[in-house]
Amino acid sequence: MTMTTDQIGGVQGYTIYQIGLHWVIAALVFVQLIFGESMTEAIEAVEEGKTASALTGNLAGMHYYFGIAILALVAVRLALRLKNGAPPPPTETSRAIELAGSVSHWLFYALLVVVPVTGLLGYYYGDPYGEWHTFAKPVFIGLIALHAAASLYHQFWRKDGLLTRMLKPK
Ligand code: HEM
Ligand code: HEM
Repeated sequence: MTMTTDQIGGVQGYTIYQIGLHWVIAALVFVQLIFGESMTEAIEAVEEGKTASALTGNLAGMHYYFGIAILALVAVRLALRLKNGAPPPPTETSRAIELAGSVSHWLFYALLVVVPVTGLLGYYYGDPYGEWHTFAKPVFIGLIALHAAASLYHQFWRKDGLLTRMLKPK
């Protein structure tokens, strides 16, 4: 097997911090995707001179702080990723699949930075940032669906323990 740039010093697994951050960030992103429209509604209400409901207002406030928390946690996560690296792909993974995994992981990191940043810019400066931010929603959902399907395929079809290594540190 050839070394990839993802391997630093031949690490065998993710650390407990990398695993913890993966799942905390995933949970926060799910909340953002499910309740994000409250932010859109709250902004529209202000623009139309109406008052948003208390629930919408609270969910919009949560969207703001959860989004900033994601940005801060991703900064820590990226630093750990660059310092600790990632384990090599499971054996017998073809070069094409290995590349797909690598590309999708870096695409996730890019989205995890770009989406909160466009959200902040949209919040303070409006469009086009708000539009770009909204456009990222289907991209994010599509990538998560592919990513989750790929990990389940590895774990339960190929039985190569890929999901296990994002659950148990080594
Ligand atoms: C990874 C983090 C984030 C995700 C996944 C996310 C996701 C979403 C989603 C799904 C929407 C609803 C789009 C629609 O109406 O269909 C939305 C709207 C919005 N979000 Fe976020 N968001 C994130 C972070 C942030 C942050 C940090 C801010 C900063 C304050 C923010 C500000 C906004 C604004 C202003 C809107 C309304 C956009 C518009 O209508 O023009 N978001 N977000
Ligand atoms: C918003 C949701 C999610 C995001 C943003 C996300 C992001 C990421 C990223 C960036 C990596 C690469 C880690 C690295 O090498 O530095 C990764 C790895 C991984 N993720 Fe997710 N993920 C999400 C949801 C999920 C879900 C729902 C599952 C399981 C069903 C999952 C399973 C895994 C596994 C098994 C790995 C390790 C892959 C490997 O060892 O090569 N993720 N995830």
